[in-house]
Formats: sequence, C-alpha cells, structure tokens
Amino acid sequence: MDGIEDSLLFPIGLSTRSELLTIDRESAKQYLENALQSEDIGSVRSAVYQFVEECSRSRSGKDKKGNGKVTFPARSFEKHIRHIVEAHGIKRAKYYIVRLLKAIETSRTTSINDINLNRWQDYDGIITDSLWMLDKRDTSGAHVGWYWGNFVPQIPNQLIQRYTKKGDWVIDPFLGSGTTLIECRRLGRNGIGVDLNAEVCRKAEALIATERPRDDVRTALFNADSVTADFGEFLKACGTRRAHLAILHPPYHDIIKFSDSSADLSNAKDVTTFVSLVGDVADNVRNVLARRRYMGIVIGDKYSRGEWIPLGFYVMQEVMKRGFSLKSIVVKNFGETRGKRNQKGLWRYRALVGGFYVFKHEYILIFRKE
Ligand SMILES: C[S@@+](CC[C@H](N)C(=O)[O-])C[C@H]1O[C@@H](n2cnc3c(N)ncnc32)[C@H](O)[C@@H]1O
Repeated sequence: MDGIEDSLLFPIGLSTRSELLTIDRESAKQYLENALQSEDIGSVRSAVYQFVEECSRSRSGKDKKGNGKVTFPARSFEKHIRHIVEAHGIKRAKYYIVRLLKAIETSRTTSINDINLNRWQDYDGIITDSLWMLDKRDTSGAHVGWYWGNFVPQIPNQLIQRYTKKGDWVIDPFLGSGTTLIECRRLGRNGIGVDLNAEVCRKAEALIATERPRDDVRTALFNADSVTADFGEFLKACGTRRAHLAILHPPYHDIIKFSDSSADLSNAKDVTTFVSLVGDVADNVRNVLARRRYMGIVIGDKYSRGEWIPLGFYVMQEVMKRGFSLKSIVVKNFGETRGKRNQKGLWRYRALVGGFYVFKHEYILIFRKE
C-alpha cells in the first residue's frame, strides 16, 4: 500500500482492502450533502475527511446491521474517497460526491444480472475484457477436478454472475463433472445439467450434493443425449419453463474420447457432423432459453494431419445460423496439464519443425437469443 491508501484506511480502522465497511446511510448523506454546499475545494476535502472519521467512529459502534446501513468493499469505498479528495477542481470533486451519493442511495440493475450499476466499481472480480488469463484453477469445496476434460470453475462463475440474477435457471447440456451446477449452488442460481454418460452423472451428482446451496436453490441432473432430448420436459420436471443462461462445454470433437456411445459428440464421424450436432444442441437450448438471454460455448481447436482445424470458428458460424447473435469471442489461456508440462520441450520442437504454434488458448463464445 502507498501512503495515500494507508491514510484513508487507517482512520476507518481497516487493515486490508478486502474488508467490508458498513456505514450509516442517513449520516453519510448528510456529510456528503454538506460537502456539496462547500464553496472551495479545501472545504470540500475537509468535509469528506470528517465523513471518513465518522465512518471510523460508527464502525466501532455496535449496530452494524439494519435497513439504514450500506456496505462497501473497503477497496471500492477508498476509490470513491480518493477520487473526491484528489480531484483538481471543485466541479470534479462534486461530481464524484454525487456519484458516491448515488451509490449509497440507490441500486440500478438491468434485467439480466444483479450487478448494481451505481456501484460498478465494486465488481473488481468480474472480467469485462475479451482475454481471460486464468492461472489458477479454483479448487475450493466440491471443485476437486477429478474429471479429465472439465473446465475451470471460474468460467461458469463469470458467466453466471454476468448473465443471471439470483434464482434464475442455468442449463448445462454437457455437464460432465458438474462444475456448472456447483457454481450455481454457490451463487444462488437454480441449475439443470445433462450428460450422456450415466456413470459420470452419478459421480457428479454425489459431488454436487456436497456443496451446500445458497438461498434454497435447486439443482437437477438428467442422463440423456442433449442432441435429441427435450429440455422443455426437464425444465417442466423442475417446475419451471424457461432457462436464463446456457453454458455449453462440448467435447472438442475427438480430442478426448468421453465414451463408446455413438451418440457421444466425441465419436462424431467427422468435423462437419460434430459441428452440426453442436448446432442441434444449440437449437434445443434456443427452444427453452428466454428471449434476449445468453448462451456461452466453451470450445478449443484441434490439430489433424498437419492442419489446424478451427473447431471454435466452425461452431461459431453454425450457431449464428441458428438464431443466435454473437456478442463476444473470449480467448482464454489454456492451463498446462501435467502431461503437457512434461512434454513442453517436445511440443516446442514439433512446432518448430512443423511450422505451427502450440495451442495455448480456447474460446468462450458468447451468444444471445434474439
Ligand atoms: C468437455 S466435457 C464437459 C466437462 C464439464 N464442463 C466439467 O467441468 O466437468 C463434455 C461432456 O459432454 C458429454 N457428452 C458428449 N456427448 C454428449 C451428448 N450427445 N449429450 C450429452 N452429453 C454429451 C460427455 O460425456 C462429457 O462429459
């Protein structure tokens, strides 16, 4: 921490920037409205410092809960205060005070998530760039990572936070080990998972059950072929009609063979068939997805007979033909598996000889049903 950060946090008694600060809404309003009446920048600053001191006093008081309170992550509160006290002109300082007042007084969300746009600075953890560098897999709780071919929990976590509200329904037609449903339970969303492999469903179900759901949400698993299944029936069985987000993580064609079943997408006879089958699953999703809601498809490319096969781009084109608009192409770094790490040198040598680049990324394609 530099000096300014120290000096702002110290009077409030916060030791780390991840701490939460609860302040009294009415008294905060009074202090900030007083600051707005000030006629020179020095008085604005001293009114804001008084406010910070008041926060410090009320922090040590007993009554921390109740309707009249508002909670900020310390980091975000500090940013607000810094903007005000470091503003060069009084006009700018007052602009930041008005912004803080709004953040304290009102909440503004859209119809697709719970992000309070009046406090968008609070959401440091939500990625908005198209390049995702996720270095460490979340291995907490039920995320034990036993399934070969699973995705990192951060992927469904980001998509759920960005594209659903609490209590919404998420559907994952290629559930695998249940990563999406574990995240649903954590984040207070209902979830439906479908997978062709009965054994995998059984294991996933047992593991998902170990994650205590937040806010009384439901999760349900169906052992079925997502190409032919009627997702409407699954939703109906759960007492609902529409899904609000779909997360698809199909096999990357035949890179990993998930089972011997001919219905398994990893056994599709060629790339064209594979792409068309993913399109069929997208059709099934479209039938149950609420309008103007989102579908994320996680997919990587493959290499075959000396050629890069752009599965990601093929799937993207296919899904766009099926009534979805493309909202983003996210490129995510590809975590190194232990096997790959051991063969790093070999792959580098092969790349140099063969004139190609070693795969280091996969795609998260974001679509919206129009
Ligand atoms: C890449 S894995 C998904 C992994 C999952 N995201 C996780 O974190 O564990 C793909 C899954 O699709 C399933 N699958 C393949 N073809 C399918 C189909 N036609 N219908 C439903 N599931 C299918 C496989 O059994 C496999 O579990």
